[in-house]
Amino acid sequence: MFFRFLALGAIVTSSLATPTVRLSFASFHPTTNEPLQFNMTYYLESHIPLVESLWGPQGAASWDIVEFQNPDPFTGESPPYLFQSTVNWNASQDKIIKAVLDNVPVTGPDVDRFSNIQPIIWYGNITAGGIVTLKN
Ligand SMILES: *[C@@H]1O[C@H](CO)[C@@H](O)[C@H](O)[C@H]1NC(C)=O
Ligand SMILES: *[C@@H]1O[C@H](CO)[C@@H](O)[C@H](O)[C@H]1NC(C)=O
Ligand SMILES: *[C@@H]1O[C@H](CO)[C@@H](O)[C@H](O)[C@H]1NC(C)=O
Repeated sequence: MFFRFLALGAIVTSSLATPTVRLSFASFHPTTNEPLQFNMTYYLESHIPLVESLWGPQGAASWDIVEFQNPDPFTGESPPYLFQSTVNWNASQDKIIKAVLDNVPVTGPDVDRFSNIQPIIWYGNITAGGIVTLKN
């Protein structure tokens, strides 16, 4: 991936959009309404190394996970999702979809070891981003 820095104030645009896979864990189970249980220790110590070993050779390049504050400090309510992980790739869309789907028989059951809810998964390209700079 390479990034082109344009002379448009703070806007940094990517001329080759980075593909990203986002996995979101709902606060409540969609059918049973059970609250989410999520074992971060297992996630970090076992799930991430497993996923890195499966997706890394296919082009997974970086990841992070956000834990949303509950209650949401903006609304005072329980947020719809409690965790969201992001995996950015250096690979074509076809290769990414195949890498993810081919490994579901391994990654799916492993999710059951740290969460009682399977994540919702989204695919997209990071279209633009920026670093904020303050002007006089
Ligand atoms: C992405 O992959 C290409 C081709 O395999 C490689 O040349 C390039 O260095 C990689 N970029 C990053 C950011 O990993
Ligand atoms: C979370 O996972 C860790 C590591 O596998 C395990 O030792 C611990 O017992 C788990 N905690 C719960 C509440 O299941
Ligand atoms: C993301 O990029 C891929 C490869 O360049 C392209 O095939 C796909 O249509 C793009 N998707 C979106 C939502 O822009």
